[in-house]
Amino acid sequence: MRISEGQCRELIKKAMAARENSYSPYSHFRVGAALLCGDGSIFTGCNIENRAYGPTNCAERTAFFKAVSEGRREFTAIAITGGEEETVWCYPCGVCRQVMAEFCAPDAFEIICARSEEEYKVYTLHELLPEMF
Ligand code: THU
Repeated sequence: MRISEGQCRELIKKAMAARENSYSPYSHFRVGAALLCGDGSIFTGCNIENRAYGPTNCAERTAFFKAVSEGRREFTAIAITGGEEETVWCYPCGVCRQVMAEFCAPDAFEIICARSEEEYKVYTLHELLPEMF
């Protein structure tokens, strides 16, 4: 892991807090994400569902789009946490992986999938999206 244990815990904590704002009346699957930028700033996001389903935005993309729209272009890591009542292992969907690929270095960007501050798995973008477009 390239980021410190402390940074990792902070990201997970912020992802858990962002999950509280999830708008998910259809799936009841609440997701939160916290994205660490190259300048040290952190942008959070939650999933935002829609009655037409298609316009639903994942927590990861919410965080990325918030950060990019505020001028950030360099990213270090993202923590993701999701589940209904209890948190489960939640991995980014294919669309979110592709969005990460647009902005992040495949071997350096770290994706932290967390069930709690203590229980998490870390992947590089390359591990989750090999042979990317
Ligand atoms: N979802 C995310 O926000 N991120 C993921 O990594 C997986 C899925 C959301 C989309 C939808 O609102 C709900 O979880 C169920 O698929």
